Amino acid sequence: MTAALAGTGLTIGLGGAEVLRGVDVSLDAGEVVALTGPSGSGKSTLLHVVSGLLRPDAGTVTLAGERVDHLPDAARSDLRLRRFGFVLQFGDLVPELTVVENVELPLRLTGVRHREARARAAALLDELDVAHVAHRRVSEVSGGQAQRAAVARALVHEPAVVLADEPTGALDTVTGERVLEALVRAAETRGTAVLLVTHEARVAAWGSREVRLRDGRVETPSVAW
Ligand SMILES: Nc1ncnc2c1ncn2[C@@H]1O[C@H](COP(=O)(O)OP(=O)(O)OP(=O)(O)O)[C@@H](O)[C@H]1O
Ligand SMILES: [Mg+2]
Repeated sequence: MTAALAGTGLTIGLGGAEVLRGVDVSLDAGEVVALTGPSGSGKSTLLHVVSGLLRPDAGTVTLAGERVDHLPDAARSDLRLRRFGFVLQFGDLVPELTVVENVELPLRLTGVRHREARARAAALLDELDVAHVAHRRVSEVSGGQAQRAAVARALVHEPAVVLADEPTGALDTVTGERVLEALVRAAETRGTAVLLVTHEARVAAWGSREVRLRDGRVETPSVAW
């Protein structure tokens, strides 16, 4: 099977230090993979490289078998808009827009009619238990509500790949499970490949396997007897 997303030999230096040193990572369609590792091990950087926000110094990135890392910036931006969904670690919703306006943004930017965009956004907000704040500005909702809005926005355009950086970091256990359920449901029903960054073993357990980074390298799992 062709991987939905694959990075091979990914290497990048930032600020004079090697942050990724030959990372191989591959996700099949419908697979939820937990990406773990200590703070500073390169998890967020790896998400930035596989999504084309950063260009690797060495190595390749393929999306459904097509090489994408060497495409021009505009083409990589377009791929990010259409084929990826993001939940970024430090939030990137537009604070002046309402929650539902933020969620429908990926659809509006790709030409989906307003009525349909609004309906799809509203359905996801409902699924994530934040329908009641849909018409509030992001600056006027709680951190956990904003985080769930970010998850809805990452899923609303049914992207091939979702990259989620600590998507449950600001959530209590029960609310976090709603988010994880939504991600797993997207994987199971739509074949979305999900790369889920987390520090918590309890969250990592929602993935079908775990990729651990340490000092910019993939840690080889110890062999089970
Ligand atoms: N733009 C940058 N310039 C210089 N160094 C950077 C830059 N971005 C990240 N780094 C460094 O690269 C290393 C990996 O950072 P990264 O953000 O990928 O870690 P992480 O695994 O996501 O950590 P955390 O769990 O704390 O989010 C760190 O040492 C960090 O300081
Ligand atoms: Mg990080």
